[in-house]
Amino acid sequence: MTPHLASALRLDSELRPVRDPGFLEDVLSGLSQRRKTIPPKYFYDVTGSRLFDRICALPEYYPTRTETTILQVAAPAIAHHAGPDAVLVEFGSGSSTKVRILLDALERPRAYVPIDISGEHMRQAARDLQTTYPALKIVPVEADFTQGVDLPTLSEGKRIGFFPGSTIGNLTPADAARFLQRAAETLGPGSDFIVGVDLRKHGAILHAAYNDREGVTAAFNLNLLSRINRELGADFNVKAFRHRAFYDAAKGRIEMHLESLKPQSVMIAGDRFSFRQDETIHTESSYKYTISGFQDLAVSAGWQPADCFVDEDRLFSVHYLTR
Ligand code: AVJ
Repeated sequence: MTPHLASALRLDSELRPVRDPGFLEDVLSGLSQRRKTIPPKYFYDVTGSRLFDRICALPEYYPTRTETTILQVAAPAIAHHAGPDAVLVEFGSGSSTKVRILLDALERPRAYVPIDISGEHMRQAARDLQTTYPALKIVPVEADFTQGVDLPTLSEGKRIGFFPGSTIGNLTPADAARFLQRAAETLGPGSDFIVGVDLRKHGAILHAAYNDREGVTAAFNLNLLSRINRELGADFNVKAFRHRAFYDAAKGRIEMHLESLKPQSVMIAGDRFSFRQDETIHTESSYKYTISGFQDLAVSAGWQPADCFVDEDRLFSVHYLTR
């Protein structure tokens, strides 16, 4: 593809915001609750996906580079577990960066199925990937992976799910167990699953990772309000909210919120929502696990922990699950 065409496509998707099905409904119902909340999957419009990629490169945000190193070191062992002719299915594929490590290590990977809610971002990533792996069959699926996903009919070959980045941390442990169960059904009998899981650790490390000095995480969080303005015609005064993120050690989770700096109200699609000073919208939870805690969860969902890879500081874990 010529550079000119690539930038024309990108411009087009920015000029014509596409409303995700359910966005308005989820925002209205989330803001109608006593404790206001919006699901984190709505962070990822084109702007949010780009901000997330910048988060991944921040010095304080250890998960991405730590998991990348773990995958590089573990790649031969993973390839041994997986065997030849694998069909890789990635849940929440984003920029499809980490899968390259697996594609380089696996013996004759047959196909790659990225699943992501951010369709335009995913398809661009798929086009980039195709240039590096011209022989690989790539079949992108635009879908919310928290719902059941129907896979396209693919050539035979062992299906291997890939769910890196501790994206599973966005789900409550109960929802994570249900997701693991549903993923087993999506992938089918005899499949394996590679899951990246952030580990519990000292609160200061976690706090820094979600309160970076450059303010990229703050911009990522606040972009949710800008997106609601852009796509739903709301009138949030984005400057009258601030990013808040803290670690709740008892719950083992980071919570991200958008905090109202003053009493104010916002109109969204004809409905008015009032905010007290200091009132927040809970925008994300990011659960952290112990290794055995995650393995127990996987077992409760019908998976067997076959292998677990960690970095030397035990910041992050990559689990190889079989059935
Ligand atoms: C994509 C859910 C794994 O929780 O660390 C990063 C999202 N939010 N910084 C995480 C996120 C703020 C990320 N996950």
